[in-house]
Amino acid sequence: MDALQCLYSRVSTRDFNDKPVSSADVAEIVRAAGAAPVGMCRYADKHLTVVKNEAFFKAVTAKTPQVEGRREAPFYGARTLIVVSSKLSDAPAIEYADAACIVYAMALAARAKNVASVYLWGFLKTVRADEKLLAALDLPEGYSPLSALAIGYTDEELKLSDAPRHTLSLNEVD
Ligand SMILES: Cc1cc2nc3c(=O)[nH]c(=O)nc-3n(C[C@H](O)[C@H](O)[C@H](O)COP(=O)(O)O)c2cc1C
Repeated sequence: MDALQCLYSRVSTRDFNDKPVSSADVAEIVRAAGAAPVGMCRYADKHLTVVKNEAFFKAVTAKTPQVEGRREAPFYGARTLIVVSSKLSDAPAIEYADAACIVYAMALAARAKNVASVYLWGFLKTVRADEKLLAALDLPEGYSPLSALAIGYTDEELKLSDAPRHTLSLNEVD
């Protein structure tokens, strides 16, 4: 798979099976975070947490509204989660942009390793609002969890693609 094929073949998975991701693959995916661009080069303000704690997954799931017939939200059966946290910045919202770049870098690395993934944002509102859940992440002082990538495997085929699956509107200014 070349770089463009990897880019075009990334897809959100919302039905993970129980197969665990190897420590070597988790390490490679986490390493890819260091390839992401970060505003003002403030890598020292970012922090990653690999979460495999069953009790954490259960507690968050219990607080999440479910849709009948769909895999349990918000983790969809994933058993490994990488949370991206940041110190809050004086430049409005830049830490959210940083987190997005970091998650995306990890999602591409996951795809390159044939590991399925999904970007998760919504559940962190629940975590930030719950002292116990927040404490369970054991973050260094001053960091807030902003985005996450759930990783794992799926029984669905991870297809290879040579084109993007979505189209954005475009105008040109000459
Ligand atoms: C900032 C951001 C937040 C997202 N939050 C969630 C989320 O909380 N739960 C979820 O299932 N998917 C979430 N997604 C995944 C998007 O829904 C998904 O990328 C989009 O539907 C396009 O599908 P694709 O990833 O398969 O191309 C998020 C994606 C981004 C970039």
